[in-house]
Amino acid sequence: MRALSYPETGEAWPFPKGFLWGAATSAYQIEGAVAEEGRRPSIWDVYSRLPGRIRGGDTGDVAADHFHRMAEDVAMMRDLGLTAYRFSVAWPRVRPDGFGPTNRAGLDFYKRLADALLDAGIAPFLTLYHWDLPQALQDIGGWTNRDVAHCFAEYAEEVFRALGDRVPYWTTINEPWCVAFVGYGEGRHAPGVRDPEAAVRAAHHVLLAHGQAVQAMRALEPRDRTLGIVLNPAPVSAASDSEEDRDAARRLDGALNRFFLGAILNGAYPEDVLHDFAESVDLGHIREGDEAIIAAPIDVLGINYYRRFVVRAADRVSNDERPDRERHEPVGWPGGDRVAFVEQDRPRTDLGWEVDPDGLTELLLDLHRAYRPIPIYVTENGAAYDDRIGPDGAIHDLDRIAYLQRHVLACLRAIAGGVDLRGYFVWSLLDNFEWSEGYASRFGLIYVDYESQQRVPKDSAGWYRTVIAANGAPPAADAAVPAESGRADPWR
Ligand code: FCB
Repeated sequence: MRALSYPETGEAWPFPKGFLWGAATSAYQIEGAVAEEGRRPSIWDVYSRLPGRIRGGDTGDVAADHFHRMAEDVAMMRDLGLTAYRFSVAWPRVRPDGFGPTNRAGLDFYKRLADALLDAGIAPFLTLYHWDLPQALQDIGGWTNRDVAHCFAEYAEEVFRALGDRVPYWTTINEPWCVAFVGYGEGRHAPGVRDPEAAVRAAHHVLLAHGQAVQAMRALEPRDRTLGIVLNPAPVSAASDSEEDRDAARRLDGALNRFFLGAILNGAYPEDVLHDFAESVDLGHIREGDEAIIAAPIDVLGINYYRRFVVRAADRVSNDERPDRERHEPVGWPGGDRVAFVEQDRPRTDLGWEVDPDGLTELLLDLHRAYRPIPIYVTENGAAYDDRIGPDGAIHDLDRIAYLQRHVLACLRAIAGGVDLRGYFVWSLLDNFEWSEGYASRFGLIYVDYESQQRVPKDSAGWYRTVIAANGAPPAADAAVPAESGRADPWR
């Protein structure tokens, strides 16, 4: 056995009292039971059936069968010592057609989940929308239709009425950029639309939906609930000092980060980003007064962090200029269509994503400096690796432990720099359906054998338990991991 040494943490350790240590999941990625108890299809049920869209032809039909194994999964969370659990509510379970009558059985599932969490001493941290739009709403244009924002606010209100008494943390939308730009621009996610105009419309309506939902929930009892949204900003820098490359970085930073942050926290879309978009898209869908709704005051900001981007200018980006996993054509998002990604010499996860913990510190500090002070949660951070059950029946995911440990340290550095960081959630609790990657990518602290649905905690789960128990302190000697796993040294 080899003891893990915890890197130098400086003055800031330990983490603030009450810091939340969580894990995150989302409904479509883990629940399965897609046609049970009144649930109707979402855009992912439809999209995942289109030939060639999902690796291996996988669907979320069964996923990790969490709908049937919820009690067992909460028991595992308790064993881990989680103090919070981030999950999403499936809109098509609660309002199967997106609007109209509520399906009580759907709401009851989440009531039981919240109660089980509270019994286990775990704070429920709820996301109202993690990408599973009811297909009936896609049939009327999905997020390109302004009315869908209103349907979302009504749905949010209904869920809040049912669960507001037991759920302290509420976030509206998970990663509006992905919803709009990956779903309606690149078409790499459901609903698979490839149209820059649709992407920008969708982005605005998703933000409008967020603002309307916050206003609706704010008007309801109990008034002390924490409300927010989850974004996926990433540090963007230019590959060189040239004016062209710096402008490429400005444009990507605008489309990916500032468009969303500016609207939500400053009450206005940045002028330069609107100008970039207007080169190729009609912005007539943005109406007077919308920005004020989008800026409805929120209490917290959720940040999902996986990577940074280094970019350069390109006339028109061809697939050859993109890292493997970024290849798609046409690039369907304005602002980013003349931006090429420049690969860096860094270790990568199995999805090809560069591992860059310093990017997390940098991002949190930048947010802290550039926007009004707001409590932040890292609502997702984690890595896919090729986990396999070893001959000893265990999964020695040293690479994931190294990844997580470095990112936890990055959080600590941000706190030392003045960021009001209140919690950290590992993506993910369980291996699950990784969208267009299907089940091939494993992100969990807990391994799932999809044949038997058996759960096996990976070594990273044991590591995380130790970290949580000590509120982020260095793992004790007994948290050592076996050196004989045959993996490359994760500490290099
Ligand atoms: C995020 C998503 C989450 C998961 C991780 C890997 O963008 O929010 O559902 O797929 O990436």
